[in-house]
Amino acid sequence: MGNLANLAAEWTDVGVVDDIPPLGSRVIATSLGDVAVFRVSGGEIFALRDKCPHKGGPLSQGIVHGKRVTCPLHSWVIALETGEAVAPDEGCAHTVPCRIADGHVLLKLPLQWAA
Ligand code: FES
Repeated sequence: MGNLANLAAEWTDVGVVDDIPPLGSRVIATSLGDVAVFRVSGGEIFALRDKCPHKGGPLSQGIVHGKRVTCPLHSWVIALETGEAVAPDEGCAHTVPCRIADGHVLLKLPLQWAA
């Protein structure tokens, strides 16, 4: 059985991909709180809840390198594809499905974050 929240989710256009600086991010305010959309070299995008799994630091203000972001508060490294903290740290930021269509960023926001 799938996750009920995800079943009900819709793709939402949150703006133009070119508004996200390369190796940077843009914060999208949602009803669930801020979501950070990251743009890595090569143009791929990834979206995570803008809240570090360590102590809630704003991942959107971190440094993007490869397909990872380093949290600005205590330098945990988070894998953008999975939201998982890179060992030895442990924790997971919520990922949000995202894609680019006609130069726009689409997010599939859950109705609520999974526990
Ligand atoms: S809050 Fe992100 S590393 Fe501590």
